Amino acid sequence: MRENPLVLHVLGARPNFVKAAPVVRALGELGVRQGIVHTGQHYDALMSDVFFADLGLPEPVANLGVGSGTHAKQTAALLVGLEEIVLGQDPGLVVVYGDVNSTLAAILVCAKLGVRTAHVEAGLRSFDRGMPEEVNRIVTDSLSDLLFATSPDALSHLAAEGVPAAKVHLVGNPMIDSLFSALPSLDPAPVVARLGLPDRYAVATLHRPANVDTPEAARELVSSVLEVARQIPVVVPIHPRGRTRLAEAGLVDGPSVRVVDPLGYVDFLSLVRGAALVVTDSGGVQEETTMLGVPCLTVRPNTERPITITHGTNRLVTPALLPAAAEKALADGASTPSGELPPLWDGAAGPRIARVISAWLKGDNLSPAAQGTRSE
Ligand code: UD1
Ligand code: UDP
Repeated sequence: MRENPLVLHVLGARPNFVKAAPVVRALGELGVRQGIVHTGQHYDALMSDVFFADLGLPEPVANLGVGSGTHAKQTAALLVGLEEIVLGQDPGLVVVYGDVNSTLAAILVCAKLGVRTAHVEAGLRSFDRGMPEEVNRIVTDSLSDLLFATSPDALSHLAAEGVPAAKVHLVGNPMIDSLFSALPSLDPAPVVARLGLPDRYAVATLHRPANVDTPEAARELVSSVLEVARQIPVVVPIHPRGRTRLAEAGLVDGPSVRVVDPLGYVDFLSLVRGAALVVTDSGGVQEETTMLGVPCLTVRPNTERPITITHGTNRLVTPALLPAAAEKALADGASTPSGELPPLWDGAAGPRIARVISAWLKGDNLSPAAQGTRSE
């Protein structure tokens, strides 16, 4: 066994940074040697640097600068860049997060090199293989050595796919750890004043290919968002993916729809905390609104996060039904069917993950229960 082996975190896109921060912090507290590789999948300062600053993430040991491209071009660049880094760094464990192309590429590279891996946010399934993320999730989970699940439904998905239970740990949600850490800094007032918003407003984030990649989808969505804006002013921090297409469809900055650059993590969550309503197609935002108790309408036919519906404030809507659903949500306020938050979304997922990794690195074969985690 190697003395104090290196743990390498591979991060590339905005949601990765939010999920990794608590894990990196907790591993640091246990004295584990670690480094971050930034693939450069997201590269604008407002999609990347601002998160390192807001979340207190350490400087990456390398930035591969892969940038944007088709799935094949981006994934190919990721594979080539990551292979070289993993060979050079010689990690004892590579940790990947979520379901983005950087996640998939890192898992493939490590599987071929025989490097062991851990997947944070394992087992989520939308059962919609038309989403690139679903393909990334299935491949990543099938090749990971350690799988960290954020919700109990993930355990049954992994069991159904034949993943041995001994590899799987239900640890809670590190994205919610980051939210807990940021909570004392979340004040809507400064960002509301800066954007010239009234006290009562809605926030919308939209970036799924199915919603923003074709003119037809963009037009249908924008016309529904504009109808919502007749009920309540809507602020849209715009993801660069949909910027042009949504603008062409009529989503332009004005008094009732504020279209602004992507916001930093603290500014964005401050805005969400003070919002009367959130409209989104983001994965992470479904979870954050659940924790903050803000009504959330998700413009998608499905979600890999059903726990945000059963234990949270989330509802799925079609673009056509969005205006009526917004009217109802604004009248009713937030309600959660179960009246309980998801189990283990308590701000301690990072330390649970770190304890499992640290024991695993030492070759300990502790049962999940002995490590303070539950696995079924
Ligand atoms: C990616 C993830 C998605 C995740 C999202 C989080 C994949 C397949 N998709 O989608 O699961 O929900 O990140 O935000 O990995 N762009 C910029 N600047 C940037 C980054 C991107 O302008 O810093 C633009 C480029 O035009 C690019 C487009 O956004 O082509 C899409 O970027 P990409 O990383 O391919 O996918 P996302 O839509 O961001
Ligand atoms: N987020 C942010 N600024 C924004 C929009 C989102 O800080 O303008 C944060 C959000 O709070 C969440 C994360 O980015 O923590 C989610 O990223 P995104 O929606 O891009 O990805 P997804 O979760 O859909 O994969």
